[in-house]
Amino acid sequence: MWEKLFQSLEFFPEQASTIAPEVDAVYGFAVAITVFFSVLIFTLLLIFMVRFRRKSEAEIPRPMHGSAPLEIFWSIVPFIITMILFGWGAYVFFNNTRPPTNSMDIHVVGKQWMWKLQHPEGRREINELHVPIGQPVRLIITSEDVIHSFYVPAFRIKRDAVPGRYATAWFEATKTGSFHLFCAEYCGNEHSRMIGRVVVMEPAEYDEWLQDDQQEPLSVTGERLFAELRCDTCHGAEGGGRAPSLEGLFGSRVALEGGGQTVADEGYIRESILDPRHRVVMGFRPTMPTFQGQVSEEEVLEVISYIKTLGVARPGSGDEE
Ligand code: CUA
Repeated sequence: MWEKLFQSLEFFPEQASTIAPEVDAVYGFAVAITVFFSVLIFTLLLIFMVRFRRKSEAEIPRPMHGSAPLEIFWSIVPFIITMILFGWGAYVFFNNTRPPTNSMDIHVVGKQWMWKLQHPEGRREINELHVPIGQPVRLIITSEDVIHSFYVPAFRIKRDAVPGRYATAWFEATKTGSFHLFCAEYCGNEHSRMIGRVVVMEPAEYDEWLQDDQQEPLSVTGERLFAELRCDTCHGAEGGGRAPSLEGLFGSRVALEGGGQTVADEGYIRESILDPRHRVVMGFRPTMPTFQGQVSEEEVLEVISYIKTLGVARPGSGDEE
């Protein structure tokens, strides 16, 4: 019902992802409630103004001492309405936050003033993202400089690209075509020109597109970097246990020196490369030097892609949060 209404009114961008109708339904509900009560309150106000106006100078109203049933009624009704909004909103929010396990990963790096996107198979894009229809896509978003925000209205997703950390967002496109991509965070002079598009294609078309421009897969570049940066002298087989093995590391739980544990996700691995002494693996000494300034955000992503190929503990291993 909302879909028809929104489309006919064109208040909203079209719904082109699985999450879009869900987001619009919550939003529509909130708007409907607001309209209903605004109309009700203003109508009653007008009626009461006329009906209970002072009719003579001598008229003194009867004192009013409140009404417990009325107080309870107008406390409980808003409580129920807000709890519905909260529960429904939280449900959609969690759906929107947790990517399905069969998602394909796309790396997004924001930079003054462009979006750089990388497919795991190696194809790189600027200000354009090609994806297949009906396939969940997980975006791993970061920034090289200031805060940007990755915004695709037709998919109802918006996620800040914050330097120094990874944010994730996901969508599954339900329509083929081209959709606007915006930067939704003021990031300097050419913020308004930091725009692009997401092109949704049929799966076969997408495969063809991927083959069109053969580039080295991220993980292969990452493997070479891993060797060039001499990471394997400690993390490799001949490391003699100086550093933790990276086999099957990705997605697993890691016990930390000084107590506590963490999941070895993209964020933790990135931190371990750039700030290795912050969270050291249990049983190891903080001897690893930082690679801050020696590797770009894209190179970090390449190394992470390589580490993923050493074994992933993610889906269905019981190791999830
Ligand atoms: Cu990037 Cu605004």
